[in-house]
Amino acid sequence: MSVATAVSIPTLPAGDAKIPAIGLGTSNLGGSKVRGEGVATALKLGYRHIDTAWKYGSERDVGEGIRASGVPRGEIFLCTKVSHEYLRAADFARSVDESLENLGVDYVDLLLVHWPNKEIPLEETMAALAKAKRDGLTRHIGVANFNIALLDEAIAHCPEPLVNLQGEGHPYIDTTRIVEACRQRGLVFTAYCPLGRGRLFDDPVLGAIAKAKGRTLAQIALRWLIQRGNIAPIPRSSHPGRLAENLDVFSFTLSDDEMARIGTLKRADGRIANPPGRAPTWD
Ligand SMILES: NC(=O)c1ccc[n+]([C@@H]2O[C@H](COP(=O)([O-])OP(=O)(O)OC[C@H]3O[C@@H](n4cnc5c(N)ncnc54)[C@H](OP(=O)(O)O)[C@@H]3O)[C@@H](O)[C@H]2O)c1
Repeated sequence: MSVATAVSIPTLPAGDAKIPAIGLGTSNLGGSKVRGEGVATALKLGYRHIDTAWKYGSERDVGEGIRASGVPRGEIFLCTKVSHEYLRAADFARSVDESLENLGVDYVDLLLVHWPNKEIPLEETMAALAKAKRDGLTRHIGVANFNIALLDEAIAHCPEPLVNLQGEGHPYIDTTRIVEACRQRGLVFTAYCPLGRGRLFDDPVLGAIAKAKGRTLAQIALRWLIQRGNIAPIPRSSHPGRLAENLDVFSFTLSDDEMARIGTLKRADGRIANPPGRAPTWD
């Protein structure tokens, strides 16, 4: 039996995957109790897509939150990631097993390579990723923080189709090229830091559009991503009211003019996640 929810979330198709068009981010989501309760609250509100990673240290709490929510596992699209230090085949397999154990699940819905690693042949990593899928440990696979050249290399080396690329996405960075590359290759782009990790909240253009629409600034920023078509933002919040607010972005639209005005906000220094040595040359 499915749990009644306040909101029904549309899904985005990618290969044979259907990815809920908004998800919950779980890095830096407060302490263990807050994380578990936050995930349970989000699921009760209607979230069906949860983003975690081995690296966040949040997998155990995410698993507890899922069980506490009462929402059947089969209704949830659960994503985790293998960290860049574990991209050799044997390390990769160990990391996936550990993630499943942490989460207390038999499989995830999406498994991503968290960051590229120049020291490890991509062919080996892609074979390990495909093996995890063939072994039934994940339903779908993808990559995070890859540029277009690396994405194409990954696709060429991977014996199974990729359905998702996760990257930073909000009005302060230019994601035009990577999002278009995903569209052309049939991938959904998952936008992390969709609220610019809080940096957007004083923006006058977003503020003016929010005021004119009778919506919050967060809703305008999220709607701008969603309305571009193949983007699923994964905002994080530790406040139940904000979790509900961030989900309520499917009952209004932005005009072409509003979309274009938000499209002018990108800046050269807008990127937040850019670890030296690990980050590729961004498109
Ligand atoms: N693949 C990667 O390398 C990578 C990198 C970074 C992030 N991620 C994923 O993306 C997720 C989201 O990114 P993020 O957590 O860095 O940043 P974010 O979602 O852009 O921003 C989170 C911040 O916005 C605040 N916030 C959320 N909703 C709000 C609202 N409606 N009104 C006002 N403030 C609001 C939150 O505060 P409160 O909690 O106080 O509401 C928090 O401070 C992560 O949790 C993680 O799952 C992936």
